[in-house]
Amino acid sequence: MNELNNTPACQSLCESNPNRTTEINDTPFGHSRRTALKGIAAALATIGASSMATAAQAASKSYNVCKTTDVPVGSAKMFAINGQPVAITQPKKGTFKAFSGWCTHQQSPLAFGVGPIQTSGANMVCPQHGATFSTTSGAATGGPARGSLTKYAVKVSGTQLSITV
Ligand code: FES
Repeated sequence: MNELNNTPACQSLCESNPNRTTEINDTPFGHSRRTALKGIAAALATIGASSMATAAQAASKSYNVCKTTDVPVGSAKMFAINGQPVAITQPKKGTFKAFSGWCTHQQSPLAFGVGPIQTSGANMVCPQHGATFSTTSGAATGGPARGSLTKYAVKVSGTQLSITV
């Protein structure tokens, strides 16, 4: 599992606001955590513990992610929340959207670390095989992916942007 960079800036941010999400620089997202969680959920369902699997999947939490100016109009940017990739977009001025950063084709991240996600028009482009997803809805719009990205609720309070995952 990937770990966050514990830079002095990161530690300062985290200590001043433990709910703030830390950005990862030049650290690729791994699959081990996601694969492990899927395996656990599948195992629970297999042994008839579907209510436990549902409860585990239903747990959600709100995170302060960034300032609204961190995601310019028309762009998409990857953040790490608990080691998981989350894509945030601003398809129109003042309208922010958040999605799981895992491509629905083969579960690769839409960017290899925190930072800009490649876009083409109003779509995010997966760097693996070129699937495209709407920056507004998360729907698959091209390439080998067929499923939409999972959406997350976004809240803007002043200039602070938070999401619930
Ligand atoms: S993993 Fe994204 S297009 Fe294949």
